[in-house]
Amino acid sequence: RLLIIDFGSQVTQLIARRLRELSVYCEIHPFQKVTPAFLAEFAPKAVILSGGPASVIDEGSPRPPKAVFDLDVPILGICYGQQVMMHMLGGKVESGHGTAEFGRAYVVPTGDKIGLLDGWFEQDKEQVWMSHGDHVSAIAPGFEVYGTSPNAPFAITADTTRGFYAVQFHPEVHHTPNGAKFYENFVKMAGFTGDWTMGAYREQAIDAIREQVGDKQVICGLSGGVDSSVAAVLIHEAIGDQLTCVFVDHGLLRKDEAEEVVKMFRDNYKIKLIYADEKELFLGALDGQSDPETKRKIIGGLFIDVFQKYANEIEGAEFLAQGTLYPDVIESVSFSGGPSVTIKSHHNVGGLPEKMGLKLVEPLRELFKDEVRALGRELGLPASFIGRHPFPGPGLAIRCPGEITRAKLEILREADAVYIDQIRKHGLYDEIWQAFVAILPVRTVGVMGDGRTYDFACALRAVTSVDGMTADYYPFTHEFLGETATRIINEVQGINRVTYDITSKPPGTIEWE
Ligand code: XMP
Repeated sequence: RLLIIDFGSQVTQLIARRLRELSVYCEIHPFQKVTPAFLAEFAPKAVILSGGPASVIDEGSPRPPKAVFDLDVPILGICYGQQVMMHMLGGKVESGHGTAEFGRAYVVPTGDKIGLLDGWFEQDKEQVWMSHGDHVSAIAPGFEVYGTSPNAPFAITADTTRGFYAVQFHPEVHHTPNGAKFYENFVKMAGFTGDWTMGAYREQAIDAIREQVGDKQVICGLSGGVDSSVAAVLIHEAIGDQLTCVFVDHGLLRKDEAEEVVKMFRDNYKIKLIYADEKELFLGALDGQSDPETKRKIIGGLFIDVFQKYANEIEGAEFLAQGTLYPDVIESVSFSGGPSVTIKSHHNVGGLPEKMGLKLVEPLRELFKDEVRALGRELGLPASFIGRHPFPGPGLAIRCPGEITRAKLEILREADAVYIDQIRKHGLYDEIWQAFVAILPVRTVGVMGDGRTYDFACALRAVTSVDGMTADYYPFTHEFLGETATRIINEVQGINRVTYDITSKPPGTIEWE
């Protein structure tokens, strides 16, 4: 396995992504944790030193242990990683006016062709992405220069004898178009054969679950989302009837969603599933509430109570399964310190395991989202299910600004179903990160046939995104929007006006509340 030592770059996770795409198993660990003892224990086959916001010249700036250079394995330093290598191995780094460089740059080759640059410079230059304040002003003994850019004379450097490589730019980002090839060369030189496949992972994970759980019972909260579904199917494959899933219907699900989920898990997978019909409880508690945070808190709180109630009925349960993913567990290097502002309090079951005295089973904690999807396919989950758009825990409650009534929820479900049907029919579903309808708390006047209508207005939302952190609204054609509006107004009783939300995130959020 490969070790990525994180110095706090915004894009460290992308390095791991690129390597996983090459079927190479890697882990990211913060530099503070990487001691000589850690290195000995981890025994990496190669090491990557990430970028980071610090300046190596500053006292107390982050360093890898010196021992990393004595491991006798290939090392790749990126940006800050390059600077720290040069600094520690006898080169020189400078900062100050005129040395910073951000954005696109072009590197041209100098010197011999080395393995790291196979497939590079087939045209005379390569586009790369730079983002650095300091720069290397003298390379360390043993290193040579293999590529330069106008602002970074030491853009690509290497000591091929020791297998040390150091670059100023970020090969992991999209804006270094040939970056994947670069990583492929590096891992090949390090002797990786690309054998990290989902088939192998499935077998490993099943063994690990069996070992962890023994003959005890496991409870799994099923949301119908991809992560918890894949986790449930995987665990079921490992321990069969020792797994019981609980699916809480809070009355805020989409049209036919509860039936589909129950059917799939009970009928197709023969998984023990408790269908917790708690619609009345949730909708009753939400009655008269229109403040977004209050709604979220009510739903989150009740969810925990309800889950606990059902879980307590399962005898001998010692484990709680969760679909935690790798991005949730990577310990990030925080230089900023202070707490960030709560934009929305996310509904999840954090804290539940402690409260219930349960141990956790988290079979997806080493995977990225698209790897979870690949594992789902490997486990035979239907493609339509794996590709489903994310759906928030509080469900339709946060797509129904203002007071939530059963009547409004019903209208919302119908409109949403028509909208999604339209998107699927036009073959756009997989291009869109998330699409849904929000029912607005206003009624507007319209005319249908010869009569006046006074019905609700709704907003369509569709965004593209990579991780939900930022998003762009989806550029539907006017034809599509017009046709969809007509269908919704004709087919859904209670809506007489349709708008399209063209806000990106930021400044908007994806959901309306
Ligand atoms: P926002 O609205 O914050 O949403 O831009 C970003 C992504 O998160 C989802 N979301 C949630 N998911 N519990 C969840 O599990 C929540 O409380 C929650 N709130 C928002 C949202 O659907 C989008 O994908």
